[in-house]
Amino acid sequence: MEMLSGSWDYAQFKAAFYQKTGLDLDCYKDRQMERRIRQLMQRERKPDFHLFYQYLADSPPAMEYFFNYLTINTSEFFRDEKVYARLKEEIFPELLKNYPESLTVWSAGCSIGAEPYTVAIILDSLKVLDRAQIIATDMDDKALLTAQKGCYDLKYVQKTPEEHIHRYFDREGEKYCLKTEIKKKVIFKRHNLLVDAPVSGCLMILCRNVFIYFKAETQDFLLERFSRVLKPGGILVIGSAEYISNPGKFGFFKRYNTIYQKKTGSL
Ligand SMILES: C[S@@+](CC[C@H](N)C(=O)[O-])C[C@H]1O[C@@H](n2cnc3c(N)ncnc32)[C@H](O)[C@@H]1O
Repeated sequence: MEMLSGSWDYAQFKAAFYQKTGLDLDCYKDRQMERRIRQLMQRERKPDFHLFYQYLADSPPAMEYFFNYLTINTSEFFRDEKVYARLKEEIFPELLKNYPESLTVWSAGCSIGAEPYTVAIILDSLKVLDRAQIIATDMDDKALLTAQKGCYDLKYVQKTPEEHIHRYFDREGEKYCLKTEIKKKVIFKRHNLLVDAPVSGCLMILCRNVFIYFKAETQDFLLERFSRVLKPGGILVIGSAEYISNPGKFGFFKRYNTIYQKKTGSL
């Protein structure tokens, strides 16, 4: 097979990697992703995509490291304070008025858990956490492990209001560890957004700082899926550096920057 010999270009690497792992790098912005992979190849002294692929294929630890390297896990509690303030003061109370029975929130691409735990803290401070189901998914096992532990360095909680630090965290040495009452409310699952079935019956989906890595076609694919699983009037929250150019195509309208709402007429 020609693909298995000689030097490869990035397209050949992507094809072989997809066959081996099921992760389609073609869904991510090429220039950004290729540059990142080339940086690692240089560090590992594997100057060619074919050599690099063989190195990964022959070594499960190297493959695991590569997978974790691909995923950019930057996150923190109360990232974008204004957005969370709006969710707390306006959006959640409104959703709960329209759907008083239960509230399913999906944090899609949750990384180390700061985002879904922030939602849990907000819902608890609104005294409605018992009515909520918070599902948090990511494809990165290492990040999910950190999320499940729920203990963080100071830099991750710096934007958290002081009263929440006292109320929801315990200090363990240098770490800030979430109290069990919050931790037990978030269900973490390994999930690939491009492959696995979306969480159904959501009233809110947070997919923040994830879209930015995907090509336009992949973003459209996800928007269509998110719209399908959101209840009418449900909310999609994206990152501050992200933008949906044609929300109407997917049954959304823009409520605020980063906050989109599914039209009540669209099922
Ligand atoms: C920059 S973090 C964003 C974390 C959090 N949403 C926030 O805004 O703070 C991006 C996350 O998206 C995840 N991700 C990237 N591609 C994914 C995919 N195909 N399926 C699931 N998660 C993915 C990465 O593993 C990473 O944890």
